[in-house]
Amino acid sequence: MCGIVGYVGPQQATPILIAGLRRLEYRGYDSAGIAVVGPRGTQVLRCQGKLAGLEAMIAREPPEGTLGIGHTRWATHGRPSEANAHPHKAGGVSVIHNGIIENYLPLRARLQAAGRKFASETDTEIVAHLIDEALLAGAPSLVEALRVALRQVHGAYALVAISEKHPGQIVAAKNASPLVVGLGQGETFLASDVPAMLEHTREVIFLDEGDVVAVTAEGATLSDLDGKPLARPVRTITWDAAQAEKGGYPHFMLKEIFEQPRAIADTLRGRLLLEAHDADLEGFEIDPRGLRRVLLLACGTSYHAGLIGKFLIEGAARIPCEVDLASEFRYRDPVVGPEDLVIVISQSGETADTLAAVKEARARGARVLAISNVVDSAIPRASNGVLYTHAGPEIGVASTKCFTAQLAALALIAIHMGRRSGQLGPEAATKLVGELALTPTKMTEALEGLGDLKQLAREYRYARDFLFIGRGTNYPIALEGALKLKEISYIHAEGYAAGEMKHGPIALIDDGVPVVVLAPRGPGYEKVLSNLAEVRARNGHIIGIGTQGDAQLAGLCDRVLSIPDAPAALQPFLTVLPLQLMSYAIAVAKGNDVDQPRNLAKSVTVE
Ligand code: M6R
Repeated sequence: MCGIVGYVGPQQATPILIAGLRRLEYRGYDSAGIAVVGPRGTQVLRCQGKLAGLEAMIAREPPEGTLGIGHTRWATHGRPSEANAHPHKAGGVSVIHNGIIENYLPLRARLQAAGRKFASETDTEIVAHLIDEALLAGAPSLVEALRVALRQVHGAYALVAISEKHPGQIVAAKNASPLVVGLGQGETFLASDVPAMLEHTREVIFLDEGDVVAVTAEGATLSDLDGKPLARPVRTITWDAAQAEKGGYPHFMLKEIFEQPRAIADTLRGRLLLEAHDADLEGFEIDPRGLRRVLLLACGTSYHAGLIGKFLIEGAARIPCEVDLASEFRYRDPVVGPEDLVIVISQSGETADTLAAVKEARARGARVLAISNVVDSAIPRASNGVLYTHAGPEIGVASTKCFTAQLAALALIAIHMGRRSGQLGPEAATKLVGELALTPTKMTEALEGLGDLKQLAREYRYARDFLFIGRGTNYPIALEGALKLKEISYIHAEGYAAGEMKHGPIALIDDGVPVVVLAPRGPGYEKVLSNLAEVRARNGHIIGIGTQGDAQLAGLCDRVLSIPDAPAALQPFLTVLPLQLMSYAIAVAKGNDVDQPRNLAKSVTVE
């Protein structure tokens, strides 16, 4: 997830671009850059790190010109560095991009074979070359050259390009990454999100998938990939800037909950190989045949993802997995060595305990694969390899979209290992790959069906304790549901394996203790219903999480929150959604600071 801005009009572009990027910094902040076309040609300024660094460069050497583009980066391909910062240039063409070009490696190889030199490790730079190549080959306009380039790329993009030889215009295209055109009086804007332009205009056009646009100071001309003219409605934005930054949601956490289908699709993109029924781990090959076991290490919510990873990997590859809290592993003289694969999971990539666990495992000879959402952070750097989740920056302290993106990464690893161990046959692999590909759509369906849970929150906001119970892959979700509730609503909550209730926790149940029972249809369903009956017999209040249309469950619960049907291995992607929404709604009903709960920090870089 990156932030994109563009401006063409009568004013100096630089201050407008910088103010726009400032508003988009929540989308990424590991490097930033602008390209401005003026009397001195195209001036490109780029800087690693936050926007302040770029502003300092601009203060020394202010670019002049009334047309420009700007970018704030959240790295996906290529580490955060000045060379990888956008805009990328080829010939007279400068390009900025938000998204992932899946087939950039073969395209890069072809362009290199044709004598083109690359200055970055990014997937974006190939687009600048493709447009330049098309112009040199005689494309009649900049927008047509963009179309020639787009016909060659697969993936997700919001792409914006300018060319010295085509002054006065900016061209852009959208596919699966957001892009908005802002219509001013004699000036036009482009941005990944409306906050970047609200100071200047409230009249906007939201581009749709496959749209191509040519922008001048006079307005925007829309067409499709074949050049057929398109019309899109002009909308008037009524949000204030702060609301707009959160996409109209009152909190980042809620926005991030609803971003999950996109985060999963982006994490799977280019890696889930539908036709080969396989998963590509971007160069990190795992040969399970020589492995003694897999060790999954993490803290907090990422640890819960690890618990689900155990089910996924053992289920697909039949390799024994152990899951450990990184903070425990590092201090217990662990038995680990070269015959083990260690998978560490960390959203931030900076958690001190997890980093120490990586060092401990490597010192004892284990190979370490990191799953992280932050490119080039400490944990990926300290590991042998990394599979990045592409969730985009997570601002809410309570992790939501990064958790499900971690599950997607773990599912990819499971498929990869299952195929190579010979344990996941072609038929089972086809089924799993197909179901995983459907998951983002099912998550959207679940989120749309659940509603805002305000009424439920009003009923339960004064509860003193909450219990969450589940079995199999939904036991870690019970733990995660309890953690979410504790973190933001400050209600005491515990997660238990449903079968454990009778071994102690059932003593806690009395009149009105809310018990969230994870009971989607699948293995263990009947057993969970028996556990539910035990709670009911003691007058607990039951909130059931079940499969859509399950009348039997509905008859046994005080409330039911429904999700679409899914195989047990992939249910956590769905069962966690009502728990995230419920915690959020209760925290809001209690008037808590949802995005920055008390005593917590987004990255825990201390022991
Ligand atoms: O950045 P990490 O994934 O390593 O963070 C681990 C935990 O600190 C984190 O998951 C924490 O539990 C979150 N606040 C959960 O919402």
